[in-house]
Amino acid sequence: EKGGYPHFMLKEIHEQPKALRDTLSGRLATDNSRVLLEELQMTPEEVKQIKKIFITACGTAYHAGIVGKYVIEDLARIPVEVDIASEFRYRNPIIDQDTLVVVISQSGETADTLAALREAKNRGARVLAVTNVVGSSVAREANWVIYTWAGPEIAVASTKAYTTQLVVMYLLGLYLAQQRGTLTQEQIREVVTALRELPAQVEAILGREEEIKGFVQKYAHCEDVFFLGRSIDYAVAMEGSLKLKEISYIHAEAYAAGELKHGTLALIVEGILVLALATQMDVFDKMVSNIKEVKARDASVVGITFEGEEELAKSVDEVIYIPRTHKLTSAVLTVVPLQLIAYYVAVARGCDVDKPRNLAKSVTVE
Ligand code: F6R
Repeated sequence: EKGGYPHFMLKEIHEQPKALRDTLSGRLATDNSRVLLEELQMTPEEVKQIKKIFITACGTAYHAGIVGKYVIEDLARIPVEVDIASEFRYRNPIIDQDTLVVVISQSGETADTLAALREAKNRGARVLAVTNVVGSSVAREANWVIYTWAGPEIAVASTKAYTTQLVVMYLLGLYLAQQRGTLTQEQIREVVTALRELPAQVEAILGREEEIKGFVQKYAHCEDVFFLGRSIDYAVAMEGSLKLKEISYIHAEAYAAGELKHGTLALIVEGILVLALATQMDVFDKMVSNIKEVKARDASVVGITFEGEEELAKSVDEVIYIPRTHKLTSAVLTVVPLQLIAYYVAVARGCDVDKPRNLAKSVTVE
């Protein structure tokens, strides 16, 4: 059942190229000129009526929502707010019929996410569900559904569900942009082309698994790990941090690198591991300065950046290079080494990777 892999998590990490292909399948025009989301059936008028988007979800799905905010705001120029479902449902959110509420849930059964969906509908908002389970509760109750075609996810730690949720965020961002006319043909083509390349690029990263597994052993004893990034890299840092915490039981935190100086830098000392994501070229120099700051305090630093940015190697202990892609689609690639790091650290520490303590795959109670 694990297809020769020691754990479901590793199997599912390796299933990502296929999951991404399946989620993209039939949704990109063959000439890369646009995305097709037949399941949405929104008229251009309906799309223009959307004044605000709320994304609400829990855990990893919430992290996909944070990437979604960067993506949708950048492509479609609609303000997006992201909220944890258990906060959203109790905080009297400002929503009306001009608000589109997007709920993201792998299982489609998470209690708080379902309650958030119902709350949104009661307040007159239209709801779009992004889920991996056909016919799940959120799929049945939403106005529209976009399925992630990740296939069954068994490991408690979500991997392929997250990357396919990201793909849906890009598809949705492009769809809204097309309807609203916020992008040039060339800009649309650039993102669509990048999407099409993602499955093979993830395969290329998985090809470096042994390298990652090798150096991870040096850091498996760390008790505090910081994940740093700017922009979308920060959103991915949150997901990397959650992955490490939940399966290796190591204390991990994600910080927007620009926030370091506002407190966190006090915690950076020798013995701390910093995972620094540096793929956002508009803030690359600033990120490199932050990396130098943590290095100067004797932390161990693992950097993740694009191939061709070999300069970074001078400022860090290890670098993981990922194939170059569009700035928005980088999230699908940067998370893969973070998934592998979490996995191999947990294995090195003898943790029960597929069934971490205290956690359930589907949280159907509050
Ligand atoms: C973490 C993880 C959880 C889920 C969360 C939401 O790896 O899997 O954080 O993402 O419980 O679950 P769904 O997406 O089923 O609503």
